[in-house]
Amino acid sequence: MNSITVVNALGLQCSVKGGALPNKHVAQDSWNVECKLARVTRLPRSTKTVFASIGNGDSVDSREHGTRQAMVEKPEAPEVQRSSEESAFNWNTQWYPVAVERDLDKNSPHPATILGRPLAIWWDKSTSKWQVYDDQCPHRLAPLSEGSISEEGHLRCSYHGWTFKGDSGECTGIPQAPKDGKQRHRSKRACVSVYPSMEQQGILWFWSDLSQGPVNIEAAANPPPVFSELSDPDFGYDISLRDLEYSYETLIENLMDPAHVNFAHHKIQGNRKSAEPLNFTITTKIAPSGFKGEDEKSVETFIPPVSFLLQFTLGGNNKQHIPGTNMETREEKNSEKKATKPKKVSLLFLCIPVSPGKSRLIWSFPRNFATFLFKITPPWVLHMTNNLVLDSDMYLLHLLERRLQVEGPENWFKRAYIPTTADAYVAGFRRWLNDFAGGCPDWSGRFEDNLPPSPPKRIILDSSWTSYGLPLARGRVADTCKQYQILIFIIHALFALF
Ligand code: FES
Ligand SMILES: [Fe+2]
Repeated sequence: MNSITVVNALGLQCSVKGGALPNKHVAQDSWNVECKLARVTRLPRSTKTVFASIGNGDSVDSREHGTRQAMVEKPEAPEVQRSSEESAFNWNTQWYPVAVERDLDKNSPHPATILGRPLAIWWDKSTSKWQVYDDQCPHRLAPLSEGSISEEGHLRCSYHGWTFKGDSGECTGIPQAPKDGKQRHRSKRACVSVYPSMEQQGILWFWSDLSQGPVNIEAAANPPPVFSELSDPDFGYDISLRDLEYSYETLIENLMDPAHVNFAHHKIQGNRKSAEPLNFTITTKIAPSGFKGEDEKSVETFIPPVSFLLQFTLGGNNKQHIPGTNMETREEKNSEKKATKPKKVSLLFLCIPVSPGKSRLIWSFPRNFATFLFKITPPWVLHMTNNLVLDSDMYLLHLLERRLQVEGPENWFKRAYIPTTADAYVAGFRRWLNDFAGGCPDWSGRFEDNLPPSPPKRIILDSSWTSYGLPLARGRVADTCKQYQILIFIIHALFALF
């Protein structure tokens, strides 16, 4: 059993454990996280029984008992065995990624909206950490993200110059208050609300509950998931971010649906001629804490609310792990193929609810081969290449969710016809959403349920405003670089194949 230890920004020491691996660095089972303070939510580890399948009256094998069971009665509404864990998922007590740390400028505050909460992100040199403040000044509610960093390193509101500091959010100065009068800035009412936050593996996260302030026991006991590939020196990767003009639900469905790639991303990431049946199977109970699935070549894990990870082993049909886990089988351990290091690539997606009709995606495709390409390729080239993919189904998805809005998202299982196992994860996600999570993100009354008005297509496809730190990926520069993007994409594809 391998383990790594992570000390997070809250000062908690957490260990990640998993099975023995060829590279002997870190465990692939990212989700078995143990925290010294308290028990951390875990995914069910059972992989022996198939709990979900979909199809036109198809049956599925029950591997544990060697019998065949009819699991699906209606093709358009697959039944998924409910977990005995009946507790509801609470959107308001979760960690959410906010930004990629590398993209943030320490010299000025940044705005973000996550789960409908307006946030002001700024670098606090006194604590050497990124602070995530409620983005409204206690004076007269001006957005602090429009402010600046003072000479002392405090966050200064741009409207009347009040300043705030550190984990406490306490006010350090009111320029309009008489110097020799009552110290008005010491009032609790002069403090900004501060969210618990932490940086982990290059990503800034915040905890969505303000009620306990920046020190939150539940947040500390349930840290964000650690992705083993991002800590493994054998892997290379880049991390990208983009804001999208469609909802969290549509985004996560899209990424749980690899079948669309050959069509929606024809000649960019796939090819129509390559379409084939996909045998996805959900292998765990669908629970508030998520689910796992697999097909012949990959293992998929959904950890609510944001994380979806696909882990592939390349190089033929010899799987290097026990289905549903990343542990090698005994035969594989003893086989000659063990001598050849397997090529592994993961697709990590963090799907972030912003507001109705808007989402933020952070993604990374770590791999343990051809890693030098990450060193010689400028990040902005990778960003633009990936944006080509996102652009090619952006408008389609923007319109799709407006169709669903008319039908009523709660009627998804009635209106969607999903006769093949290619849609197993999408159906699993919808089941999780409906059964445990209230059918949509909990906006805490900040928005009406309706989607916002639809902007023109050219605005939706204008990616120049959507990412941090990408001044080169804008306007005409982006257009003139298209040939170069395609060239880089081809080089990556060739290295992946050979
Ligand atoms: S609103 Fe912020 S100082 Fe006045
Ligand atoms: Fe897509």
